[in-house]
Amino acid sequence: MIKLSPSVLAADFACLKDEIEKISGADYVHIDVMDGHFVPNITFGPDIVKCIRKLTNLVLDVHLMIENPEKYVDVFLASGADIITVHYECNMDYEYIKNKVKAAGKKLGLSIKPKTSADAVKDFLPDLDMVLVMSVEPGFGGQKFMSESLEKIKKIRQMDKNIDIEVDGGIGEGNIKAVADAGANVIVAGSSVFKAENVRQAVENLKKF
Ligand code: DX5
Ligand code: ZN
Repeated sequence: MIKLSPSVLAADFACLKDEIEKISGADYVHIDVMDGHFVPNITFGPDIVKCIRKLTNLVLDVHLMIENPEKYVDVFLASGADIITVHYECNMDYEYIKNKVKAAGKKLGLSIKPKTSADAVKDFLPDLDMVLVMSVEPGFGGQKFMSESLEKIKKIRQMDKNIDIEVDGGIGEGNIKAVADAGANVIVAGSSVFKAENVRQAVENLKKF
């Protein structure tokens, strides 16, 4: 059974409460934190995570697209994040982050960008709860799915049968089966959920694909 993680990046922030309510049939809430350095876009910080925490009991899946995430891991944990994912490609104190997330009893994810090979995550697998395979260049919602990511998902699934594999970028009703068949079990969907005419229906359709 897959877990669906709608990305609030595509939500209407003027009515965040309603938007979060509409995805109550999903499993996680995917929260894209961008710093304008690691990626060319800026989104939101821990205070918004805290607001979302008050609105839902769904798992908060925080995707940190930032440099030096060790500076912010404590504050994101305190804000109510359940999963903290950092990028393999950023500058970071990985040991510090790992210890903080584990000590808080939360889950740790490591993400790889489209040009990073699956082998990069190999040595980290014993520590990790989740690997996030980006299927678009991180920074923006609404981009086209890169099908090369399917091979990467398969490769990571061969390395580890049990780890959560999340895939993020350009996923909708047309390709969710392909990513699940490749071995991903946590599926991010931004535009295909929040830009749908009927958001509740979109969640339902993606869940049963
Ligand atoms: C991109 C983000 C994604 C994005 C996905 O950098 O990490 O989570 O919100 O949006 P869609 O599903 O529209 O590609
Ligand atoms: Zn994301």
